[in-house]
Amino acid sequence: MDFHHIDFAKQYSDHMFMADYDGNGWKDFRIEPYHNISLSPANPAIHYGQSIFEGLKAYKNPQNEVLIFRPQKNFARMNISAARMMMPQIPEAMFMDGMHQLIDLDRNWVPDVEGTSLYIRPFLFATDEYIGVRPSDTFKFMIITCPVGAYYAKPVKVKIEEHYTRAVKGGTGFAKTAGNYAASLYPAHQAQKEGYDQLIWTDGQFHQHIEESGTMNIMFVINDTLITAPVGDTILNGITRDSVLELARDWEMKVEVRPFEVSELIAAIENNTLQEAFGVGTAATIAHIEVIGYRDTDYTLDLNKRQFSTKLLDTLNDIRYGKTADKFGWNYLV
Ligand SMILES: Cc1ncc(COP(=O)(O)O)c(C=O)c1O
Repeated sequence: MDFHHIDFAKQYSDHMFMADYDGNGWKDFRIEPYHNISLSPANPAIHYGQSIFEGLKAYKNPQNEVLIFRPQKNFARMNISAARMMMPQIPEAMFMDGMHQLIDLDRNWVPDVEGTSLYIRPFLFATDEYIGVRPSDTFKFMIITCPVGAYYAKPVKVKIEEHYTRAVKGGTGFAKTAGNYAASLYPAHQAQKEGYDQLIWTDGQFHQHIEESGTMNIMFVINDTLITAPVGDTILNGITRDSVLELARDWEMKVEVRPFEVSELIAAIENNTLQEAFGVGTAATIAHIEVIGYRDTDYTLDLNKRQFSTKLLDTLNDIRYGKTADKFGWNYLV
């Protein structure tokens, strides 16, 4: 494989980790060659979406060691998703040791070219052979990996969505579960047909507050203050978001985690106080936003002002690629 030209998520590494839940406990922890799996046609994950996943990345440092970024956070979030979706809790040792041994075995799949990494996808899904609507008794946990390059090579064009809804209070927005993503495909496709890369979701009730994007949390810098929405039950508690907030506070930047209205954003664009808008997520890292579409207007942002997000991207990259001191203890050495 040529790590200089990686097609996103097209080629998977040699091995995968698997374990089964038989209704009482976890068993058969194993690493196998990457291969197709067979499922009952009555599988409830297929019919009813009882399925959750995580996404994290491993990086090569200059000493050719492999570092995984904050995997315990993904482990914790996966169990929050599992509880909401009536799935068994995942033991920490299974998640961490399974991942460790898998990445150790496939360490040659961790690319060493600038901007690249190994994407790690743990997932858990129902496996009963039963077509009635009820929680499955049996489940399969797996981890697959694939080398990835940069996600958005250039600044993105986003559209503020006021018709479709990703999540509502009391729903599953905070869980990383299959159906959230399935439901987002059509609205995202409509926006893409209009020339946008991504949506910015607003609250499901009044479409007044900014929530998050398709695969990223969203942040703004206005009057030198970093602003982002609080995570509740409608927004995924992003690990990149958490890291960015920690860095901003460490740099003694003013941070406001509060409900943020679309009207405030538009006013800040119009009165020229919006300095930066960007998405933050594992896949995208930091995605600078160049155009925000709202109703019939496309607002083009001045990318020359993106000092904070550029510093963030550089700092996060330096930590993840092991080029600077890991003062927060975020890296897990394989
Ligand atoms: C809906 C959604 N929001 C936000 C994020 C960003 O979360 P993280 O930084 O943990 O990747 C993701 C990606 O995982 C996502 O799918």
